[in-house]
Amino acid sequence: MRRRAQTLLAFLVVAGAAAGCRQDMHDQPVIEPFEESNFFADKRGYRMPIEGTVARGQLREDKAFYTGLSGDRFLTKLPLAGTRELLERGRDRFEVFCSPCHSRVGDGRGMIVRRGFKQPASFHEARLRNQPVGYYFDVMSRGFGEMSSYAAQIRPEDRWAIVAYIRALQLSQAVVLADLDNEQRERVRTGLANRGSLASPAGGEETVGHD
Ligand code: HEC
Repeated sequence: MRRRAQTLLAFLVVAGAAAGCRQDMHDQPVIEPFEESNFFADKRGYRMPIEGTVARGQLREDKAFYTGLSGDRFLTKLPLAGTRELLERGRDRFEVFCSPCHSRVGDGRGMIVRRGFKQPASFHEARLRNQPVGYYFDVMSRGFGEMSSYAAQIRPEDRWAIVAYIRALQLSQAVVLADLDNEQRERVRTGLANRGSLASPAGGEETVGHD
């Protein structure tokens, strides 16, 4: 019994020593990070991707869709269909990502601004109403002054959805009666009448037009 234990111990010592000196499995012929290579003329172990390499899913051939620019001019039309789904998605993303500063109506008085962040211009100013859709896409993609880029958080499709929704917000705050049909005008009239009767007795905040 004792002898067997001794043999086992001896074996373990030899095995341990052998493992200590032999590095074969550790030292594989692969290039380690930043290691020099004698195989390539420029001696760099790290290789650059071959010119024109495109990562999977990153082809982005449609430049206008991914930059908001056509040549060096901002797109003036959405590069995708302006459906109800698009607007709904845009509203959802706008309320998540933009309303904390720009507010849910886009007047630039979101909660973060009320707590001291720089106040952005209202989306309802003439200057911003007249900006083409590509401008909004560009601001979200590249940032603007104090505002950082949202390219990493918001997919391009969703950025366009937000642009569509900003347009809807702008329209909602600047409707010309002449653009409405009779039924719509009637609804505006009743809306305004209700607003009057709601606002005065309660003396509370007006909410009509802001939802
Ligand atoms: C953390 C606050 C914040 C968030 C969130 C934010 N913005 Fe802004 N945004 C600003 C500020 C501040 C400015 C003005 C920057 C300046 O003038 O330095 C600005 C400017 C802009 C402008 C340019 C206005 C101009 O004067 O030409 C647009 C367009 C805009 N934001 C759109 C968006 C959209 C769309 C989102 C959501 C994806 C968004 N912003 C999210 C703070 C924010």
